[in-house]
Amino acid sequence: MPRLGDLDLDRHLRDPAIKANFVTPMFDLIAPRYDDFTRLFSFGMDRGWKHELLTVALAVWRAGIDNSRSTSDSAFNAVDLACGTGDIAFALAAEWRASVVGIDASQAMIARAQSSLTAAGSQAGPGALRFVVGDLGATGLPDQSADIVTAGYAYRNGPPLQQALAESARILRPGGVLAVLDFYKPANIVWRSLFVNYLRLAGNAVGWWWHREPVAYGYIAKSIETFVSAADFTQALHANGFGVVDVRRKLGGGVAIHVAVRTAERVT
Ligand SMILES: C[S@@+](CC[C@H](N)C(=O)[O-])C[C@H]1O[C@@H](n2cnc3c(N)ncnc32)[C@H](O)[C@@H]1O
Repeated sequence: MPRLGDLDLDRHLRDPAIKANFVTPMFDLIAPRYDDFTRLFSFGMDRGWKHELLTVALAVWRAGIDNSRSTSDSAFNAVDLACGTGDIAFALAAEWRASVVGIDASQAMIARAQSSLTAAGSQAGPGALRFVVGDLGATGLPDQSADIVTAGYAYRNGPPLQQALAESARILRPGGVLAVLDFYKPANIVWRSLFVNYLRLAGNAVGWWWHREPVAYGYIAKSIETFVSAADFTQALHANGFGVVDVRRKLGGGVAIHVAVRTAERVT
């Protein structure tokens, strides 16, 4: 495997045809430290954000549930896109009693999620849980087969947003809920510069310290700069057939939670 530092990150982020050639080996490299890194880098806030993401999504799901279907027997199907080591998928299975498929492009991430599942055994939750290597932009799942789709720090790392959201809309049934947590480009230029530069410096330092590859975490800053703002993400959801129910901005718009419902008619 080439050293990440030898690859031209800007070129890989600009060109969808080769983006995964950088992103997937990078996540394979950092998979063993990913959970520690996420906790450290978010100053412990990641866990609270994910809890809030799922709490809001569940409330939206319950509010929209068909009256003919009782909530007590509403075992539902969830898909966790870019599941990483699987924390959102485990929470869905354990707390929501959902049947969950976790999908991730990184073999190393899926291996870690799978070994946690094996270790947890029946403690993983009453719902069925499985992890597969795959692409969030082409999941291979049937049309309208999911009631809930979750995406934690997913779309920024994946294929073009338009393709990814169209795929999420395809697999969600009408009325299904999409719950997204990610980093975005803050709208305020001064704050954006401070936020992105902090992530760049801290990411480069930790990347060098843990992996002797500064870009392994310095990537986050670059990926935010080439991604959209939280407001533009809301627009992209509307354009792809989602009704946006709730948007919660954190850290001055550097992080946001979006919860949306797949409308009956796709706009695109
Ligand atoms: C920052 S991690 C997020 C992990 C987890 N969802 C969380 O919330 O902590 C991003 C994940 O996206 C995955 N990923 C990147 N591109 C992907 C793609 N095209 N399809 C599926 N997963 C992808 C990476 O392998 C990585 O595990």
